[in-house]
Amino acid sequence: MKVNFVDLKAQYQSIKPEIDSAIQDVISNTAFILGKAVADFEEKFAAYCGVKYCLGINSGTSALIMAMKALGIGEGDEVITTTNTFIATAEAISYAGARPVLVDIEDESYNMDPAKLEKAITKKTKAIIPVHLYGQPADMEPILEIARKKGIVVIEDACQAHGAEYKGKRTGSLGRVGCFSFYPGKNLGAYGEGGGVTTDDEEIAQKVKMLRDHGSPKKFYHEYVGNNCRLEGIQGAVLAVKLKHLDRWNDGRRKNADLYRKYLKGTDVGLPREMPYAKHVYHVFCIRVKDRENLINFLKDKGIFTNIHYPIPIHLQKAYSFLGYKKGDFPVTEGCMDQILSLPMFAELTEEEIKYTADCIKEFYGQK
Ligand SMILES: Cc1ncc(COP(=O)(O)O)c(C=O)c1O
Repeated sequence: MKVNFVDLKAQYQSIKPEIDSAIQDVISNTAFILGKAVADFEEKFAAYCGVKYCLGINSGTSALIMAMKALGIGEGDEVITTTNTFIATAEAISYAGARPVLVDIEDESYNMDPAKLEKAITKKTKAIIPVHLYGQPADMEPILEIARKKGIVVIEDACQAHGAEYKGKRTGSLGRVGCFSFYPGKNLGAYGEGGGVTTDDEEIAQKVKMLRDHGSPKKFYHEYVGNNCRLEGIQGAVLAVKLKHLDRWNDGRRKNADLYRKYLKGTDVGLPREMPYAKHVYHVFCIRVKDRENLINFLKDKGIFTNIHYPIPIHLQKAYSFLGYKKGDFPVTEGCMDQILSLPMFAELTEEEIKYTADCIKEFYGQK
């Protein structure tokens, strides 16, 4: 048996007629950049997240940069995020002109530890970017409370958490601004690059709208030094079709997470915890294991493809050596980075594939 890490073909097959016709419409209308398809998606995704505005952007990385630029963040400022994230969170801070300041995570949720946040705040801190890693929201209430007390803005990195909820509220509606990636493999993925900024703040929305399009409120009039970060029409059309299926796909992922739990119960494998405040959407199903390299190779020989999110935290990446952090600075992240392993996860994964994966893991550990 072969178990893919993700399977975008299976998903496409299940919605092929809708997708093909939506893409054909964009081509027939030659509305390739922004246009009606993007505006339609923006309206629907804003409503889905429970905010007034969504702006289509050309990637999640650009969405984070646009959000920070719209908030006036730049040279001389510090922005706090976690060390256990994809490099793009830190890169966006750097490209906005600011300095990333890192904090450690909670062992159970893999997300920013609010108890460690206050110590990282200085006079230069302009924003906090909690990352809803693996599809589980960070513990937003204490983070928002600290930010409120200190007069600092909160930007959600919701790039892995489309449709996830914190105490019943969807991600993208929890901070002042939410940033999404619609990279193809995400829970809501385009057929190319894509991203979005969500907010209830009209001023920020208007500014992001201009910044993504050369700082321009109307053609050839430029109010700000902007950039070209527009979402393409075809991506807007694909995303609007796929948004209709997102809850069903997220339910499928949650069901698959339960099946992994059922079949891996009683083993030495550490299973992910769904925090009491969270509705997790399992963009990544991350387990904790011993002897990881050998397990990865054993599973590969059995036709099962896994991944590691992420093998090297930001503070140990060469690109960020200039920040001056060293090994030992973030013990919780460092304690799990050699143990974490992401198992195959997508809505169309079958119970048979999940059971096979769990059986192979048990076989490796002699726990069958
Ligand atoms: C947590 C996180 N932040 C930011 C990004 C950047 O998104 P994109 O790849 O669309 O630029 C990603 C994408 O993988 C991500 O997982």
